[in-house]
Amino acid sequence: MREALTYDDVLLVPRYSEIKSRNEIDMGNELDAHRWFDFPVISSPMDTITELDMAIAMASNGALGVIHRYNKIQEQVEIVRKFKDAIKDAPVAAAVGISGDYLKRALNLYDVGVDIICVDVAHGHHVLMERALKSIRDEVGDNLHIMAGNVATAEGYLDLSDWGANSIRCNVGGGSICSTRIQTGHGLPGLQTIMDCAAVQSKAKIIADGGIRSSGDAVKAFAAGADFVMIGSLLAGTDETPGEVITTGPYAVRRQEKVYRGMASKEAQIEWKGNFSSNEGISTRVPYRGPVQNTIDDLKNGIRSGLSYSGCRNIFEFRKRAIFVKQTSAGLNESKTHILRK
Ligand code: XMP
Repeated sequence: MREALTYDDVLLVPRYSEIKSRNEIDMGNELDAHRWFDFPVISSPMDTITELDMAIAMASNGALGVIHRYNKIQEQVEIVRKFKDAIKDAPVAAAVGISGDYLKRALNLYDVGVDIICVDVAHGHHVLMERALKSIRDEVGDNLHIMAGNVATAEGYLDLSDWGANSIRCNVGGGSICSTRIQTGHGLPGLQTIMDCAAVQSKAKIIADGGIRSSGDAVKAFAAGADFVMIGSLLAGTDETPGEVITTGPYAVRRQEKVYRGMASKEAQIEWKGNFSSNEGISTRVPYRGPVQNTIDDLKNGIRSGLSYSGCRNIFEFRKRAIFVKQTSAGLNESKTHILRK
């Protein structure tokens, strides 16, 4: 049986650097030949993460938002239309599924000018994904970027690429609100999936999706070969996420929170389709965190700093120069803040 590693199992070795300021670092990347992003981060297509406000915030920062699909086609189309009126010249993405009205949804989104369609399903290495990718591609031709996922293996990554995906969300069951691995026993540690896919790299871009808890995890994902990272929990609780701020507790210990939930959670399924089947996510509340710009600035600073520790000015150099080591549990403890309070 082989060993499979994830973010906490590894560290990057600091290397000689000639970088005098983090401003010398350009962390940008292209999603395809026509679309460059200064900040290679994508907000998740989840109903507590990305609607219009988050998509605009991401675009304003050189990143990308994927409008979730847990709504009526017309509601999703309207969000894309408003985005296009708000922001000129920035790409917007929207998600579709692989069954039911997915093709109609994709074509309606295409008609309103969506730039990227994300074919979004928990287990993407699937015959229905093949059908969905081929049928969408047949209708829209090569101009539209198609993102797809999720996959856990290099085999899945290569198949989705062959079936027409331009970028692929890699990692199954690694997200903060996922219970797929508990419920089904299936999955693969997230960083391993990135390393496996990068080892067979085809022309499809690799998106490290889920389990990114800090800028340090994003830096490790880029070092392992990810082109972009996709995040949910890091953005949860901010003003730009859908949903109300909930005030709880007596006055003295009053807390403000927002809901963050997995799209396969019982709560999301019931609200979305009226019943639930396999419960593969949780619904929870996270502290309310104000404007998302603070989180985005922290992430940008952390990623720039991460590249500078390996002496690299961009993620292409970084991928070649980064050196991973495996750490022990003692190393992991040392890596966390561990001040003694006697
Ligand atoms: P983070 O760790 O950023 O992860 O919060 C977000 C990613 O989690 C995936 N996702 C799910 N996975 N059950 C799962 O197993 C779910 O209910 C669920 N909802 C979202 C998705 O890939 C997202 O980008």
